Amino acid sequence: MLLQAKKVSKRFDGITAVDSCSFDVKEGEILGLIGPNGSGKTTMFNVVTGVHDADSGAIVYKGEDITGWPTDERARFGIGRTFQLIRLFPRLTVMDNMLIAQKYAHAEKFWSQLFRKKHVKEEELAKRKRSIELLKMVNLHEKADDLTENLSYGQQKLLEIVRALAMEPELLLLDEPIAGVNPTMTKQILGLIKQLNESGMTIVMIEHNMNVMMRFCDRMVVLDYGKEIAMGKPAQIRKNKKVVEAYLGRK
Ligand SMILES: Nc1ncnc2c1ncn2[C@@H]1O[C@H](COP(=O)(O)OP(=O)(O)O)[C@@H](O)[C@H]1O
Ligand SMILES: [Mg+2]
Repeated sequence: MLLQAKKVSKRFDGITAVDSCSFDVKEGEILGLIGPNGSGKTTMFNVVTGVHDADSGAIVYKGEDITGWPTDERARFGIGRTFQLIRLFPRLTVMDNMLIAQKYAHAEKFWSQLFRKKHVKEEELAKRKRSIELLKMVNLHEKADDLTENLSYGQQKLLEIVRALAMEPELLLLDEPIAGVNPTMTKQILGLIKQLNESGMTIVMIEHNMNVMMRFCDRMVVLDYGKEIAMGKPAQIRKNKKVVEAYLGRK
């Protein structure tokens, strides 16, 4: 197991957003995290990445208990993510958004850098080169010097993904990567996710489009009111009574 969430609970005054939720992520898979709005999916990502500390339960990554670790340490340890609401710096260039992501990527080198200026320059060049390579993957390299706010919504979603890749994650958490994106761009984003997975990256993806999720995921975990109500292969999930009820039985 690459990641284990063990009986994680998270409350926000009065609301239990995540309620004793457990699931595993296997190395190399695409795991789908689905559930109605407000079922705790984003909160779960926030607990895994350390944005929120869980009230109880544990997060184990690569065999290590990382519960309570700060976000940047988890990122350096290999957990990357994108956000449901885009979190880029709109008034900075595309390249600067890429470079900022990598600024703290190797904090352990901070002191050695201080004493070796030449090394700093080399490092800076390497980061730029790497950024261009990543931007090429999504056809944004020619926009490196453009202001990020001038990119289309879909291009910003792509940029968020490659920015996360700059940290060289082994596990990538994608929070609604195609929500609100047009069909052409959706195809491109899904193609990128597939390509990353085929090159060995483990992916956990939150997404509402069931057709896409059924086609895309190796396994799925379903949350409802913060509780894990089902887990399994897409074909099993499709037939699961609790899942059908969570989606169709209400509203
Ligand atoms: N920072 C927060 N402060 C207070 N309540 C929150 C916060 N984040 C999420 N919640 C609440 O927790 C529940 C789960 O939210 P969320 O994890 O965003 O659901 P999902 O991503 O599945 O739509 C919701 O009721 C939401 O209002
Ligand atoms: Mg959400």
